[in-house]
Amino acid sequence: MSREIIEISVRNLNLWYGENHALINIGIDIPKNRITALIGPSGCGKTSFIRCLNRMNDLIPGTKMEGEILVGGEDITRRDVDVVSLRKKIGMVFQKPNPFPSSIFDNIAYGPRIHGENNKERLVRIVEDSLKRAALWDEVKDRLNLSALSLSGGQQQRLCIARTLAVEPEIILFDEPCSALDPISTSKIEDLMVELRKRYTIVIVTHNMQQAARVSDYTAFFLNGELIEFDETRKLFKTPREKSTEDYITGRFG
Ligand SMILES: Nc1ncnc2c1ncn2[C@@H]1O[C@H](COP(=O)(O)OP(=O)(O)OP(=O)(O)O)[C@@H](O)[C@H]1O
Ligand SMILES: [Mg+2]
Repeated sequence: MSREIIEISVRNLNLWYGENHALINIGIDIPKNRITALIGPSGCGKTSFIRCLNRMNDLIPGTKMEGEILVGGEDITRRDVDVVSLRKKIGMVFQKPNPFPSSIFDNIAYGPRIHGENNKERLVRIVEDSLKRAALWDEVKDRLNLSALSLSGGQQQRLCIARTLAVEPEIILFDEPCSALDPISTSKIEDLMVELRKRYTIVIVTHNMQQAARVSDYTAFFLNGELIEFDETRKLFKTPREKSTEDYITGRFG
């Protein structure tokens, strides 16, 4: 870990939904250009945690967040942070692919347009680049004007990844991106993440232990709102320090 450049530094992070204390004193350093997997049983706070990283919890009434999240030296929990540019810098891909009901082209061009890009040629280039980086270009290049909803689930998920890439984020958060996909689409997304790691910092929530072991460099194990253990993936799976980590990764609960 000492060799790594830290992209996101979280200190004493606490989150409440009303009375429910969902994240308790989380501290973690997420390294740049690495894949960090978040694992843990349902309801332990994985989604809540990644939603803190791009202030998505702001959209849920009754939430309270305390602590510090430094991204590039800036504390993004501060009230005066520009959340629109924060979410441009930190993109998110959800469990269920959620393309807009518009063309493949317009799905990808949406973000750049919102951020002020109106030049048709540049948009065409951004769309092509993003689809190529998301490993979808060859499958859709002849039908960019068709509805995104005409794509298969696995293609839709890669479209959502392309849509995220189009605004040139630095960090991408994936919340169980493969849980609705077949093994072939899953392996495409996994290969893609490994490729994307060269340019982006990636955080992925997954319930699939093999997936965490296959793609991630670091793994964080959450339980009941706490971060129990965080280490290199290889070490965490081979020689976990905590009994509860071992129980979870060997399938004894969760
Ligand atoms: N929008 C919300 N409003 C109120 N409570 C919420 C909300 N989202 C999550 N919670 C609560 O926060 C806790 C953590 O939930 P979270 O969704 O972060 O878990 P998770 O680890 O992502 O679970 P899963 O693996 O099932 O997706 C749970 O107690 C949950 O009920
Ligand atoms: Mg979740």
